[in-house]
Amino acid sequence: MTTEKQRNKFIIDAGYNTFLLRSEDVYIDLLTDSGTSAMSDRQWAAIMMGDEAYAGSRNYYNLEAAVTKFYGYKYTLPTHQGRGAEHIISQILIKPGDIIPGNMYFTTTRLHQEIAGGTFVDVIIDEAHDPESLHPFKGNIDIDKLSAVIKKYGAKKIPYVTVSTSVNMAGGQPLSIANLKEVRKLTQKHGIRLVHDMTRVAENAYFIQQREPGYKTKSIAKIILEICALTDIATMSAKKDALVNIGGILAMNDVKIYAEAQNLAVVYEGLHTYGGLAGRDMEAMAVGISESVQDLHIRARIGQVEYLGEKLKERGIPTVLPFGGHGIFLNAAKILSHLPQEQFPGQTLAAEIYKDSGVRSMERGIVSAGRDKKGKNIFPKLELVRLTIPRRVYTQAHMDVVAESVERVFLRREKIKGLTMVFEPEYLRFFQARFKQ
Ligand SMILES: Cc1ncc(COP(=O)(O)O)c(C=O)c1O
Repeated sequence: MTTEKQRNKFIIDAGYNTFLLRSEDVYIDLLTDSGTSAMSDRQWAAIMMGDEAYAGSRNYYNLEAAVTKFYGYKYTLPTHQGRGAEHIISQILIKPGDIIPGNMYFTTTRLHQEIAGGTFVDVIIDEAHDPESLHPFKGNIDIDKLSAVIKKYGAKKIPYVTVSTSVNMAGGQPLSIANLKEVRKLTQKHGIRLVHDMTRVAENAYFIQQREPGYKTKSIAKIILEICALTDIATMSAKKDALVNIGGILAMNDVKIYAEAQNLAVVYEGLHTYGGLAGRDMEAMAVGISESVQDLHIRARIGQVEYLGEKLKERGIPTVLPFGGHGIFLNAAKILSHLPQEQFPGQTLAAEIYKDSGVRSMERGIVSAGRDKKGKNIFPKLELVRLTIPRRVYTQAHMDVVAESVERVFLRREKIKGLTMVFEPEYLRFFQARFKQ
C-alpha cells in the first residue's frame, strides 16, 4: 500500500509510463498476464525435476511430447519467450519486400517481420476496430480483404499469413473455426502457409465452445487440436496460456523448416534442446500446458475477467465488448474524449488509475502502435487501456477494488490533462517511452 502523495511522485519519476514503475510501488498489478500467473503445486514439483544437462535434457523430450499431445505439432523448439520464436521464423521465411497479412498486428510479431524486411498488412474484420461491436468473433479474418491482398501482391510475395488466436490488440477477441477453415481453404489454394500465434489458444477455444454452433459439448482440449491442425507452424509465448513465468515455443510439422530453425536457435537462443531455458523451466511448461487445456480452469479464468467486466459495465464505464479472454480493455478514447489522440488518452488514463489506487494497467493505443516505415505516428482506431488479469493470482475482491478505482477516475475524467512524449526509444516505444503532463 502506498499513499496518493507517494504515487503522484512515483508516476512522475516513471515518466507517466506504468512499465517504468517499481513493482513494490504497485498494489494490484494488471500490467500484463505475461509470466505473471501463479504456478501450481504440480508445476513447482516439476521445477525440482530439472535435468540441467546441456544437451538432450529429459525435460525437453517431456515438453516436446506435451506440445504434440495438446497442440498436435510434430516438432518443437523451445525459445526464451514468444518473441524468440517470432524472430527465428521471420528470419527463415521472410525476404525483403515480402508481405505478411494477419488478423491485427501484435507489437513484437510485426517488429520481427519488419526487421526481416517484410511489411505487415491488417486483414482482420472491420468489427475488430470498433470497441462497441458485439460480433462474437472479432478476431476473424476478412476473406475479401485477404483475397485482395493476395491478388494485389501475388502469392509469391506472401511467405505466410499470421493467424492469432485470442487477438490481443483487439481486446482478447477470438476467431472462429469456421473462419479459420475458410482462411485455410483460400491460402492452400495459393500455396501460402499459416503461422499460428497460439499464445492464448486455450482462451480462444473457450469462446468457440461457448459461441460457435456445434462446439458446446466438445472439450477445450479437442477444440485446441482442431484449431492447430488447420495451421502449419506455431509461435507461442508460454508465459500466458501455458502458465509459466518464462518460456516460448516454435512448433511445426515441416522437417526442413525445423532444421533451419534448430540451426538459427544456436545463434540466438541456445542449443535446440533448451532454447535459452533451464531444464526445470521446460518441465514446468510441459505441466502448465496440460493444466491450461482443462475446461474448469479456463472457465474460472475467463469467468474472473467477465466478473470485472460486469462490475465496470454496472458503473457505465465504456470498455471493449464483448469482454475478452485475458483482460478488460477500457475505451480510453471515449472516457477521455476531450483529449486528442496526440495527447495519449490511453497512456494518460493508465497513469491516472495508478495515481488513484496503485492499480497498474497499460496503454494499448497510439503509443503501442508506434510509427510507420516513413517515421509517421500510426493512429489506431482503438485507443485502449488494458486491465490484464494474471491467472490464478487475484480474488474477486481485488477485482472490486479495481472497478471502484476506475469509477473514481471516470467520475473526474473531464478534469484530466493529457501528456506529451519527452523520450521515445527506437523499438517498441511503449515499454520505455517517457511523458510529461
Ligand atoms: C499475442 C502475443 N504474441 C506474442 C507475444 C510475445 O511474447 P513474449 O512477450 O513472450 O516475447 C505476446 C506477448 O505479450 C502476445 O500477447
